[in-house]
Amino acid sequence: MSQEINLHTPQSLDKLQETALLELEAIKNESSAEEFRIKYLGKKGILRLLLKSLGTMAPEDRKVMGAKANTIRALVESKFQEAHWRSNTEDTRDRSFDPGLPGFPFHQGSLHPLMQIRDEIRDIFSSMGFSIDYGPEVETDYYNFEALNTPAHHPARDMQDTFYIDESIVLRTHTSPVQIRVMEGQKPPIRSIMPGRVYRNEEISSRSYCLFHQVEGLYVDENVSFADLKGTLLAFSRRFFDEKTEIKIRPSFFPFTEPSVEIDVRCFLCKGQGCSICKKTGWLEVLGAGMVHPNVFKSVGIDPEKYTGFAFGMGIERIALLKYGIDDIRLFYENDARFLQQF
Ligand code: PHE
Repeated sequence: MSQEINLHTPQSLDKLQETALLELEAIKNESSAEEFRIKYLGKKGILRLLLKSLGTMAPEDRKVMGAKANTIRALVESKFQEAHWRSNTEDTRDRSFDPGLPGFPFHQGSLHPLMQIRDEIRDIFSSMGFSIDYGPEVETDYYNFEALNTPAHHPARDMQDTFYIDESIVLRTHTSPVQIRVMEGQKPPIRSIMPGRVYRNEEISSRSYCLFHQVEGLYVDENVSFADLKGTLLAFSRRFFDEKTEIKIRPSFFPFTEPSVEIDVRCFLCKGQGCSICKKTGWLEVLGAGMVHPNVFKSVGIDPEKYTGFAFGMGIERIALLKYGIDDIRLFYENDARFLQQF
């Protein structure tokens, strides 16, 4: 290759120097240094051949070209030493990565809105002295129904459409079975909050889904009265919704509580004026509650003559829908980042 280069004009020597200096800059390691050395400075290297070829030139040319060729050789040699040394000592990692540039923004994840609501509820009750308990999502018929005063063929079983795994195993339809497990395992006084997933074989729509979350609450001690239930849930509502919230207690029915009630809170959006969230009623239905039924105490071996208690259950989705003004429950399960990023 070197023989083909026409080096017999001063301009061509300038070009040679320019190319050599560029190639020197590209030296990154031992092997590229060696390549360069052989190409330019080796026995058959371009610079050697150049000097040799001076002999064939006319004397006037030789003088000019010889001087120039020698300067180039000296320059390339010294620059080569430098480049070689640099390639051995310097950090020669890929320069296209610039550690000085600002980093790429990474979106920080956040808790799912349902989990945020769950934690808020939990924190309020734990500040009132409630502890947290959990139970299995796959339950026996006994815990989900029997022990909760709902024997087979009890009409109240129809209140909840149940997923049966087999005759005696179900996906729990509410968190109330955890009450039984807690009472089996602890002696009164008991104050417990039991959050978790529950399942119902319902048609999926904007209002209902086959699974959702509940928070169960239980308070058992001597002399627990209905006034305690009212006071506790009013205090909770005022901390969770807003400090002036009023509650309304309506009679209801659950097999495991007597009396049973449903509790509405004043719509926190319209303050009771009537809006689309409360469907113009001014009230929002938020939880079911009642005094623990004596039969429930009997099934866990707690003396109903000595102890009384209250229990309540609320749906997290329902509260989240109300709180954020969301109109479709399915959004909570689609994991669309555009939805989730809003919380
Ligand atoms: N388990 C009931 C439901 O899912 C709610 C409830 C819990 C009612 C505790 C009373 C006491 O509808």
